[in-house]
Amino acid sequence: MKSWLVTGGAGFIGANFVRLAAEERDARLVVLDALTYAGNVRSIADLIDAGRITFVKGDICDETLVGELLRRYAIDTVVHFAAESHVDRSILGPRPFIRTNVEGTCVLLEEARRAWQGATSGKRFLHVSTDEVYGSLEADEPAFTESSQYKPSSPYSASKAAADHLARAWSHTFGLPVVVSNCSNNYGPLQFPEKLVPLMILNAIDGRELPVYGDGQQVRDWLHVEDHCRALLVLLERGGAGQTYVVGGECERTNLDIVRMICREVDRLCGRPDGDSEKLIRYVTDRPGHDRRYAMNPAKLKRETGWSPRHTVEAALPAVTAWYFQNRAWADDIRTGEYLEYYARQYGSR
Ligand code: NAD
Ligand code: DAU
Repeated sequence: MKSWLVTGGAGFIGANFVRLAAEERDARLVVLDALTYAGNVRSIADLIDAGRITFVKGDICDETLVGELLRRYAIDTVVHFAAESHVDRSILGPRPFIRTNVEGTCVLLEEARRAWQGATSGKRFLHVSTDEVYGSLEADEPAFTESSQYKPSSPYSASKAAADHLARAWSHTFGLPVVVSNCSNNYGPLQFPEKLVPLMILNAIDGRELPVYGDGQQVRDWLHVEDHCRALLVLLERGGAGQTYVVGGECERTNLDIVRMICREVDRLCGRPDGDSEKLIRYVTDRPGHDRRYAMNPAKLKRETGWSPRHTVEAALPAVTAWYFQNRAWADDIRTGEYLEYYARQYGSR
């Protein structure tokens, strides 16, 4: 049986990935997560309680812990999600981004190298990264590919770019079987409500203001989290060692388009007159250094693996909006801070 270490598995994409992998793969799943403000163990608590996954609360910068886990569970596959992920927070305070995203990635690479000691057959280190390492596109430029130049703009994207370079260096110099994936903006269930989609859904439901940065004409390439997680599963099985893959939803939309779609859906779900929630939109001061447009061309991934995105935002946003509507308790626990107590209360003695 394969044995996977999933870092950041209590975060948004990590939790969706762990849930999909637990359902569709036989592998042993060990989740390592520090449970920062962005981690919510409740997102995977049912799998922990059922004994389907092993959860370890810990820091990827702790090399003793990482080395011990790799050996104790005979890990052959590392799927590395753990990161400080929010651009606005990186502008307010960049240091934690350098620690976790750069140093933490270095610890994982180095400990995997030590644990596997060159016996790399059947081993994989999948480093999950972002389209933001490539910087911003003009309206008429073609989408990013694997050979686009690195031009990160924010402290967050600079830290992810540094981590990508480390991952490739460990592959090139030490022969560590690394696969790097760079993907676009994810949306779906279990996303921390500081990000655009869940923030707008929850604020609209509550009748709170919807803060749109600048003119709202920034473009993102929206990727449903399930499409992303399926791409990662495929890359673990078919991705070439030492290779990079761009993952995108082929779904470029402006922020304002997304917010308006959410408003229409919330009006429908809440039985409000059409156009009611849009009145909550407020144009606020733009994010410093705000990238104007991201777009990804996933041709290599499609060609080599047969993967293709199954969702468009137009088709998927109604179900995503309904998820936040129906899982109000999940979001309320975050707003009250209760989710931060859950681990100690349920699993504190472990
Ligand atoms: P998230 O912020 O929702 O979750 C991050 C998780 O990492 C949390 O559970 C947190 O507790 C954990 N973590 C943070 N620091 C840690 C540390 N030092 N040790 C152990 N665990 C730690 O992030 P996400 O949106 O799920 O993103 C996951 C990965 O995907 C990140 O690497 C991010 O850069 C990348 N990514 C995200 C998106 C997106 O749209 N969300 C797009 C492209 C790439
Ligand atoms: O592109 C991939 C990246 O997507 C990931 O690497 C990051 O981890 C992830 O956080 C996300 O970064 P963004 O900055 O694009 O996501 P965010 O949800 O913060 O913002 C999406 C867009 O919406 C962006 O142009 C800023 C804008 N925005 C965001 C918020 C939170 C607003 O207009 N108002 C808001 O309140």
